[in-house]
Amino acid sequence: MKPKIFITRKIPTHIVSHLEKSCDVSIWNYENTPVPREVLEEHIAEADGLFCLITESINEELLKKATKLKVISNMAVGYNNIDIEAASKKGVTVTNTPGVLTETTADLTFALLMATARRITEASSFLREGQWQTWSPMLLTGQDIYQSTIGIIGLGRIGEALARRAKGFNMNIIYHNRSRKLQAEEELGLQYVSLEDLLKKSDYVCIMTPYTPETHNLIRKEHFQLMKNTAILINTARGGIVNEKDLYQALAEGEIWAAGLDVFEQEPVALDHPLLTLPNVVTLPHIGSASISTRLKMAEVAADNLLRVLNGEIPRNVVKK
Ligand code: GLV
Repeated sequence: MKPKIFITRKIPTHIVSHLEKSCDVSIWNYENTPVPREVLEEHIAEADGLFCLITESINEELLKKATKLKVISNMAVGYNNIDIEAASKKGVTVTNTPGVLTETTADLTFALLMATARRITEASSFLREGQWQTWSPMLLTGQDIYQSTIGIIGLGRIGEALARRAKGFNMNIIYHNRSRKLQAEEELGLQYVSLEDLLKKSDYVCIMTPYTPETHNLIRKEHFQLMKNTAILINTARGGIVNEKDLYQALAEGEIWAAGLDVFEQEPVALDHPLLTLPNVVTLPHIGSASISTRLKMAEVAADNLLRVLNGEIPRNVVKK
């Protein structure tokens, strides 16, 4: 009998066909509607494998319903949506898709940094709303990027790829990480600093760390107070790493200059969220890895990880606590 797998969203059909060769596949085949909880519960009870997204919370309660589950394959690098400990207690392997999205996510992070520094979205709306009357010396002036200081919090793959882009802009690059990355320091001329020093010295503070209980609200009121009034915060990691209330306060009171956010604590962010009322916030709907080619690769890697576990092989990417 073929193993049963459940895919929690519409994915490219060639990947479904590939999985169907060796698996009995069920899909929540909708593009923009997350799978309802009861449907997920129903399927997880029977499934040998689960192909899921960051929009699904795979918690202990849900896992209790799984009787045969061997693998949870998350189509993402981050896996804070999965209770890894509960999965491992049940002997369920968890996999993710690192590597293939590194450069694409670093591109988006740098694009957001530039858009925020140079007020791109604000300027575009200004023109379309008919406000452009004349060229004017200080109209829509922003912050320089070249030769400024970028502080990267979390020097994993994507943080390092961001540093390479920053080097191309002749930026002074400082970073804070759990451990020092001597090779990256040497190759890219990075300087390791404490979190406090990073916040004090950076023109751009970029959050590139995974979201864990330790990094929940890592950046809050006292940290914004350390930052320059001209500083820009960029977050393409996870919303919960920043205390959003404190960020709003810091932006509204001019404690920091602007923020570029691809992620929010609650996604999709509510349209009446206070951060969305501020002109100095550039917002995106969590599209860090969203290039066509990268999303295809992520789906392919997720499918491959899932099949390997079901075939008793070692998957490319195993997540461990
Ligand atoms: C997206 O946020 C991911 O973790 O891949």
